[in-house]
Amino acid sequence: MNDRLRVFAGPANPRLGVAVCERLGIAPAGYECHRFPDGEIEIALTGSVRGRDVYILQATSPPVEQHVFELLMLADACRRAGAARLTGVMPYVGYARQERRSVRGSLGARVAAAVVETSRVERLILVDAHSSTLEACFDVPVDHLTAVPLLAGAAAPHLPPESVVVAPDLGAVRRARDFARILRLPMAFVHKTRTSGEEVAAHGVTGNVQGRVPFIVDDMLSTGGTIEAAAGALRAAGAREPLVVAVTHLLLAGRAREVLAGLPLARVLATDSVEVDAGPPPLEVATIAALLADAIRRHHRDEPLVDLRGRA
Ligand code: R5P
Repeated sequence: MNDRLRVFAGPANPRLGVAVCERLGIAPAGYECHRFPDGEIEIALTGSVRGRDVYILQATSPPVEQHVFELLMLADACRRAGAARLTGVMPYVGYARQERRSVRGSLGARVAAAVVETSRVERLILVDAHSSTLEACFDVPVDHLTAVPLLAGAAAPHLPPESVVVAPDLGAVRRARDFARILRLPMAFVHKTRTSGEEVAAHGVTGNVQGRVPFIVDDMLSTGGTIEAAAGALRAAGAREPLVVAVTHLLLAGRAREVLAGLPLARVLATDSVEVDAGPPPLEVATIAALLADAIRRHHRDEPLVDLRGRA
């Protein structure tokens, strides 16, 4: 690999960062992150980046503010050390779900995008961001990759022929369509409403799920409330159990582990976009290291990434 390439495994994704570098055949670029007694951090690079093509891999997963600040500090250190080109690789983007404004509310996705851009990265590489509209929140160009083919391949061995791909809400319909196309399965969707961060309700299912094994697909699993509500609606509609679930981003917030333990799940497939200790089955993690390494390699060589992209 070209000696001009440097990839930093940010503090939010140390394992994924190392795995990406392994696939690129390079060592992760070195840095030290010192935390002072008052909680402030200082970042110092341990090698030169002058004139180099630099990639900082850092998801802005919870704790979002900490991970955003670490990204800004790493980028600042790289700029000041003379990096020639700086690209942010954010496999998960925090606040992406706040892409619509409530009455007199803030627009979290835009605010988070504006803060990330103060790092002066010239380009961003994202994976299955919550909505394609997120790209419009950024002024810098975005390469929006998808892990759908990876997850479909990982799910295939767990899906009997009489499976049906299920979108657990309207926002997941395009993703479900992509899975259904790859796996050659029919699809259905659940009517969901959200009353709070923790509470969702499902009001019915559109599509034939009677006697079929649901394969629920979503961009993320946070509290598990969406999957729980969908599972209830699918049972009421006569679907078979256990269910298979695939999400790109596994946050496991709040009561998620408890919620999942109470559901009839054969498998929960997720990527390592967010660094979590997934725990015992039914959780199964498919790594996006090869996807990110491929994107970085092509970007470094100024080659197209179009076949790695997600929804337009
Ligand atoms: C919402 O639109 C998202 O696509 C997910 O369905 C949702 O954020 C999952 O969160 P939770 O697991 O807390 O229901």
